[in-house]
Amino acid sequence: MKITSTILSILAAASLVSAGKFHQVKHGKTNIVPNAYIIEYHEGVSHADAHNGLKTHAVDYKVRNEYKIFNGASITVNSEHDGHALASVPGVKNVWHVSIYDMPKTQKVTAKKTDPLAISDHHMTGVDVLHEKYKLTGKGVKVGVIDTGIDYNHPAFAAKGATKGCFARNGKNCRIAHGWDFVGDAYNGGNTPKPDGDPMDCAGHGSHVAGIIGGNALDIKVNPKPPQPFVGVAPEVTYGAYRIFGCTGGSGEDVILAAMELAFNDGMDIINMSLGGGSAYKDNPTAALAETLISKGMALSGAAGNDGANGVWMVSDTGLGDHATSVASFDNMYDYYNYITYGGVKMPFSVSEAYAKPITLPNTLPIVPLLDAKGSLLDGCDPAQYTAVGSLKNKIVVALGDVTNCKSGGRGANAQNAGATGMIVVSDDAGIDSLGGVAGLPMASISNADGMTMLATYAKNKKNAVSWSKDQGPFIIDNSGAPSDFSSFGLDGDLRSKPDIGAPGGNILSTYPLALGGYTLMSGTSMATPYITGSHALYMQAKHAKPHGDVIRQALKNTATISKNYKSKTFTSAAKQGAGLVNVLNAVLAEASITPDHIDLLDSVNFHKTVQITLKNTGKHTETFTLKNVPADGLISYQGNNTWPLANPVIEATSASVTFSQEKVKIPGGKSAKITLHFKEPKTNTLFPMYSGFVVATPKTKGAVAVHVPYTGVKGDIRKVPIMDTDHGFPQAALANATSIIDDAPANPYTYDLVKNFPAFISRFGSHTPNAEVRVLDSKDKLVGYISFGESGRQPLADENGNPVLNEYIWNGQVQTTQNATAPAITVPAGTYTVVFAQQHKFSKGEYPKDFEIFKMKPVTIA
Ligand SMILES: *[C@@H]1O[C@H](CO)[C@@H](O)[C@H](O)[C@H]1NC(C)=O
Ligand SMILES: *[C@@H]1O[C@H](CO)[C@@H](O)[C@H](O)[C@H]1NC(C)=O
Ligand SMILES: *[C@@H]1O[C@H](CO)[C@@H](O)[C@H](O)[C@H]1NC(C)=O
Ligand SMILES: *[C@@H]1O[C@H](CO)[C@@H](O)[C@H](O)[C@H]1NC(C)=O
Repeated sequence: MKITSTILSILAAASLVSAGKFHQVKHGKTNIVPNAYIIEYHEGVSHADAHNGLKTHAVDYKVRNEYKIFNGASITVNSEHDGHALASVPGVKNVWHVSIYDMPKTQKVTAKKTDPLAISDHHMTGVDVLHEKYKLTGKGVKVGVIDTGIDYNHPAFAAKGATKGCFARNGKNCRIAHGWDFVGDAYNGGNTPKPDGDPMDCAGHGSHVAGIIGGNALDIKVNPKPPQPFVGVAPEVTYGAYRIFGCTGGSGEDVILAAMELAFNDGMDIINMSLGGGSAYKDNPTAALAETLISKGMALSGAAGNDGANGVWMVSDTGLGDHATSVASFDNMYDYYNYITYGGVKMPFSVSEAYAKPITLPNTLPIVPLLDAKGSLLDGCDPAQYTAVGSLKNKIVVALGDVTNCKSGGRGANAQNAGATGMIVVSDDAGIDSLGGVAGLPMASISNADGMTMLATYAKNKKNAVSWSKDQGPFIIDNSGAPSDFSSFGLDGDLRSKPDIGAPGGNILSTYPLALGGYTLMSGTSMATPYITGSHALYMQAKHAKPHGDVIRQALKNTATISKNYKSKTFTSAAKQGAGLVNVLNAVLAEASITPDHIDLLDSVNFHKTVQITLKNTGKHTETFTLKNVPADGLISYQGNNTWPLANPVIEATSASVTFSQEKVKIPGGKSAKITLHFKEPKTNTLFPMYSGFVVATPKTKGAVAVHVPYTGVKGDIRKVPIMDTDHGFPQAALANATSIIDDAPANPYTYDLVKNFPAFISRFGSHTPNAEVRVLDSKDKLVGYISFGESGRQPLADENGNPVLNEYIWNGQVQTTQNATAPAITVPAGTYTVVFAQQHKFSKGEYPKDFEIFKMKPVTIA
């Protein structure tokens, strides 16, 4: 009966203050800390009042973190059911699970001895000129690195005149002058953090990003020396190192909030954070706190994510706030390859997977290309092609890597049977193909262009030998300077234009903890984000002020370089590159701006056909600007009735048309003009095409920097985008014990005793939903209650091993009788139940059932 009185007290109190909102987990890939919650209080509710409320509510809880700027706390309760009731506690505004963010995934390559050409990323962005001509270094700017810590002893972080870096809180002679370890080495996201204050990095990621922001390895004489000199974007910034990850594993979102608050209180001008997860929605505590900090004058950049192989709608949530910067990755100009030299030309190659070791053939062996009567290269699929050229002993046979008739395994076997000592495969399309090959035969794949050069050289002198390099060298690769394949596609769940901007993130050489080798190359949007952070620092120093984060984002976006993919004649979608590749030099020199810095046209139902922009002349003199529309690639994001966005959206030459109220506009110095744009949707009839482009204002003055803003939209009614993966039979019921799934597709009819056998629900979502519900109906289809399934994020198409990523939920037979858990859960009596999955359509009001995609599962019998 004690319970009843608790309920009464909650209900009485709840009538005074409206109940809070319990948020579902919207990260398709993240885990949660069991029974841990982040709660936000209503404005004006003090921590003491809130704790009184929690206590009267009889929730037994422990405080994990108390926050100050974010009005709330994180707590642990005894059971999941206690947590779900939190939303009804007076004074509570929002309740979230504590999500565990993965340590950002990067591709790591060991840095090889290279030459100075490889410091190419600053040429792409104007940062080299800012360093050399304008002497900008980010001096005086404070940058918070919320990450795995920083190896502060690294010589690349040494203060001027010192040979070694150091960390001292508020220390004048250390570049790492702020920071804290919130977690300890053994923390993995799920266990209890053991803060120790020392932000030394044992994982490596934070040291790498810190080096990109402002490491200086130009003149290092101590060991280990960098494989080549390099410098970060802003080599005199002061760092705060806020360590939120242990040596491995993830980090709880409540730790991240604490780190963000401390970074702000330490006076950081900019924080840079990149956290995994493909939420695509901004209603999470991190994004909310980020917005608050930005409104107080701090800037924040977050990684767009490395989910480029998962189709559209996959941007990570850290950069999704209205004022935060979501950063896409561009490939560096150069990549490192072993190479052959033939006729004096260096040709990068990639070795076959089956051979998988360096090729150490003598440098005296000639080539024998397999040619047809016209001199064209044959595919090497027919053994007769080999017998036609005579003995291949001590020779390198050359064939075309066309996969129509055979793969590299078949081609390699033929070469081996014919007695060849090695094989060179000429790629038949862009890039250097990867080869499966055969064990025992050295097989190397080269680009098509190099293959053609090789044949031309061979035609002149058949005796030329191939030599094989021992080292790697830098080569301009096919996608050099263009958006990285791995970089995630937007838009966000609300169809806003994200990512915002791009920066070099593919193949970036930077610092690494000394204990782990000191330097390495890494790739990821994690590498692009700190580049933007460093760019902020240079911009702030150039303007001798602390402009609002919004102003800097706008300046960087307005002046970025709009880019094309490799060999493409058209511009890459703004849903992939944002406003383009950052050009900090142009941002500093520009004498114009366009507000807002992105145009969200939304879908056909909510289409913004008329949009006003403000073009400002920030220079001293009158300037005439010409406005034009520069279309970018359209993306076909769905095919047929498939629930899943396409892994690789198909590029379509389709775009909106734009007319301007004025195509030419003369603006006096310091003044602005309002220009009205009229948009028309593209004519295409493909399914939910995502189209985009750029509105560009070009000044008449020769050499003056043009400014632009990206626009993005989706044609069609976004409410009709399918959400649940019914194509592949999900959601489906499975058989579980209390902790694990035992049979993922048990025979019909399902009977569960809730002692040994529990029903489990396996689901998979191909699109985000603003709200998901799981209802339980009895045998007469009457609503019994709701299951707090708590998951509404989109899953990636597959994990790293190619397996589908699934949501699995083991049901203990309990339901909440109201949707927002204002009463304790009940266990359903024995009987037959139908479980209904309901996902709210994007951009709908959320009326049930009209605005939901609904899937009724086969009945479940509870014995
Ligand atoms: C809680 O649920 C009740 C009944 O389902 C509903 O009337 C009320 O509006 C909900 N409150 C909130 C804050 O969602
Ligand atoms: C900076 O952002 C990158 C990418 O998001 C992230 O991996 C890294 O942890 C962040 N480091 C800083 C500077 O906070
Ligand atoms: C989707 O399926 C419906 C019904 O089967 C069919 O009428 C429609 O043409 C399909 N749409 C596409 C784009 O394939
Ligand atoms: C549930 O099944 C898993 C896998 O078969 C097993 O490891 C675990 O011990 C079982 N748990 C219980 C509570 O029986």
